[in-house]
Amino acid sequence: MPIRFLTSGESHGPALTAILEGMPAGLPLSPDDINPDLARRQGLGDRKGRPYIGASPRMKLERDTAAILGGVMAGVTIGGPIAVQIQNLDHDTWKGKAIEPMTIPRPGHADLTGAVKHGYNDLRLSLERASARETSARVAVGAMCRKFLSQFGIRVGSYVIEIGGVSASVDEMPLEDRIARAFDSDMSCPDESASHAMRARVEDIIRAKDTLGGVFEVVALGLPPGLGSHVHWDRRLTGRLAQAMLSIPAMKGVEIGPAFDNAKKSGTQVHDEIVLHDGALARKTNRAGGLEGGITTGGPILLRVAMKPISTTLTPLKSVDLAAGREAATQYERSDFCAVPRAGVIGEAMTCFVLADALIEKLGGDSLAEMKPRFDSLRQSRLDDLPMLDEPTVFWE
Ligand SMILES: Cc1cc2nc3c(=O)[nH]c(=O)nc-3n(C[C@H](O)[C@H](O)[C@H](O)COP(=O)(O)O)c2cc1C
Repeated sequence: MPIRFLTSGESHGPALTAILEGMPAGLPLSPDDINPDLARRQGLGDRKGRPYIGASPRMKLERDTAAILGGVMAGVTIGGPIAVQIQNLDHDTWKGKAIEPMTIPRPGHADLTGAVKHGYNDLRLSLERASARETSARVAVGAMCRKFLSQFGIRVGSYVIEIGGVSASVDEMPLEDRIARAFDSDMSCPDESASHAMRARVEDIIRAKDTLGGVFEVVALGLPPGLGSHVHWDRRLTGRLAQAMLSIPAMKGVEIGPAFDNAKKSGTQVHDEIVLHDGALARKTNRAGGLEGGITTGGPILLRVAMKPISTTLTPLKSVDLAAGREAATQYERSDFCAVPRAGVIGEAMTCFVLADALIEKLGGDSLAEMKPRFDSLRQSRLDDLPMLDEPTVFWE
């Protein structure tokens, strides 16, 4: 795949770093393209300045801003690897401090699995890297990919549709409206009355000393047909998007379009019929979620992602003290109560990365100037463009 990225850094270390490789030259890029997404991931406030209530106090402490350390000169990408760094302001409170070893693993976190795998004698070594703090570096990468996609009119947004069993009603709402209204909501939910109910549900769970998960949707608009491939398992865009979503900590389910609902229906109720509209191929529905055969149809991509409840709970869970060798209750550390509205931003970032990768794969080229004319000439699914045979063919002699 033409682009890739790595992140490095721990939750309370000095900084998070990301290197994004394969971005073409000629893309104007500055921290201003990245910082708004970092602020959204922190849940510091919606457009009306209302902060998100379910976030850990840590998020109020941090002020994530990106420093671009390589790959950009005079405000434009040069085609080399782009390095971005985000300081951890909380590092100052941990620096030089002797920290008690953590020996009681939290069920649902990476404490035990990470320690068993790597032979750690302090569970903190697992949690420092498994922490979703790492996703701030991913959001920085996603913001750079978003800037690249915007050059071709491709847009990616997200919104929350469920928190702790409280569901939003969005079926009748156009996708653009869902994204815009979510931007104005502190719960990132386009349905105002569901937003209030979700906020109340999070307030209740904080009082109950427990945590919540939920579901968000990611939407990509303005895509051309033909991104991805049907020819190899690892090139199918469907699988690449699903993998990207499930790579986000705490994401345990992903649906392309209304996949689980489709599974209850018959084929004639589900498949998006192909019609002619002014000589062009068109669909009146998008129950495939924008993908057929692992390739974009040209319709919007719709992903639905399920997040499990946060595993650090104020109410202790049963566990084992690995140092003492006896059963013990989990201990609480400053933590989110519900992170679903913030997780949607990470889903957007990973979607932007996968789509930028697929677009560069489709267009080829090393600079934006090279790619733009190729994008403009992408086949628009017009009937005249498809040179169909009208004679039988012997395929295998
Ligand atoms: C935005 C976001 C914030 C999170 N905040 C917390 C948190 O404060 N406390 C916690 O225990 N887990 C939190 N998690 C979840 C853990 O990172 C995750 O459960 C852990 O890494 C184990 O991975 P797994 O759930 O994929 O198995 C958060 C996840 C995301 C996406």
